[in-house]
Amino acid sequence: MPIDMYSVWLLLTTLTGSIIIIVLTIFRCVAHTSTQRHDTPKGIMNLLGPSTSVRGLLKSRSLANQRLRHTFNITNTFVQADTQTHNIFVGRMKDLLRVQSRHGQWGGFLRIARQAVASELNRYTIGQEFSTAFADLVQIVTLKAIVVSLLDPDRDMESIDAQDLCASATLITELWAMSKQQTSVSSAASSPSTCTPPDVDRLATLSTHLRRLLPDTERYPNPIDFVVPTWETLWRLVATSLAHVYDNKDYRHNFHELLGDPTPGRFRTTSLDSNLCTEWIINETLRLHPPSRHISRSFPLVKEHKGLQILVSLLPKFIRDHLRLDSIIRSEIADIESVHLSTDIWGPDALEFKPRRWERHAGAADSAPTLFAFGYGPLMCIGKSWAPMTAALIVGAILEGIDAERLEIIGTAVIGGRAGWAGWEFKHS
Ligand code: HEM
Repeated sequence: MPIDMYSVWLLLTTLTGSIIIIVLTIFRCVAHTSTQRHDTPKGIMNLLGPSTSVRGLLKSRSLANQRLRHTFNITNTFVQADTQTHNIFVGRMKDLLRVQSRHGQWGGFLRIARQAVASELNRYTIGQEFSTAFADLVQIVTLKAIVVSLLDPDRDMESIDAQDLCASATLITELWAMSKQQTSVSSAASSPSTCTPPDVDRLATLSTHLRRLLPDTERYPNPIDFVVPTWETLWRLVATSLAHVYDNKDYRHNFHELLGDPTPGRFRTTSLDSNLCTEWIINETLRLHPPSRHISRSFPLVKEHKGLQILVSLLPKFIRDHLRLDSIIRSEIADIESVHLSTDIWGPDALEFKPRRWERHAGAADSAPTLFAFGYGPLMCIGKSWAPMTAALIVGAILEGIDAERLEIIGTAVIGGRAGWAGWEFKHS
């Protein structure tokens, strides 16, 4: 039977289409299953560093962070690719830090931290034997201090409803944990459109409480945009530092000295009594427990490959739409934790908490291996100088507060992170 030209054309078109679809399916599978991990300083610097334009970095960060948008309704620069949102948001944050530093410098912050600790301890001690979960108290004290010192410096601390603090802290932590359980980092990043739907009820309750914490709708159209970057990492630095410090006399003495002279000079100066400085303790905590253990970047696969683009352009539009080509994503991860715990970099005692190791790196000539706790490159954290001293003062204020109330910290051998604080509590001694 003769084969007409139309049949040949139809056969070739179907064959070509099928091959393209098969190639794309293979690419999608490969992209989903293979996430490139960078676990050397050089690899991390290349991924996060300045070799790419800020625009490119913002794009790859926003693509990797779509889970945050889904989970929390975050709309800030962490989930947006455009430079305008970045400039406005980072500018606002820098303004907040500038205003905070004018408000009585660090002495002013210490007053706020002490007041936050005292009001929290009083809340529990009145009329009952004191016992409260370690992470709960750290979360609430840190959030209260952040709101009154940084986000809303005109706010009277007593006017903040304890329920709003408690519910905001708990819900952010729960939603974060749920989003991690539901979608692993790599699969969420690989395909934002397949993220599980957000927990609408929890999200609505969270936004009600956050709105009451930050009622100024003009300054804070979406309060979560400001609370997550400032509080979510800081409370964990406070908690992990406290966990290393509470049962060591030398370390505690160091924080006591800092409270007597709350200045960056004292933070960085070695105490004559302990031959330690508080900055080393905080650095060592950030090394062993970086709040951001991994930093992800994602890239749209088809846009990266000229060859794929040509193949795709041969497909009819309805097939291109059906294949959701923009959702084929390749991910790369800066494995901050691996580098911070590497024995090759930090020596055989890399897994031990040894703040004095930082003494070796105190001189400018012998610079320390890089800490990546605050990221690297153009999108590095703008709170990197503020957060360590802030955390140290909150740790000091908590230690002072529990001494005054004759409380003690009961800990376990396992130091938690966002979760994992079972068995840790504040108790009457
Ligand atoms: C212990 C506390 C903190 C840690 C560990 C931390 C960590 C980080 C990291 C790893 C990044 C880079 C993210 C990326 O490259 O994708 C980052 C960015 C950022 N952080 Fe922090 N952060 C902390 C506290 C703060 C505080 C207190 C503020 C605000 C006052 C803040 C504001 C920001 C902002 C605005 C960015 C985005 C910078 C940009 O896009 O150019 N952070 N942070």
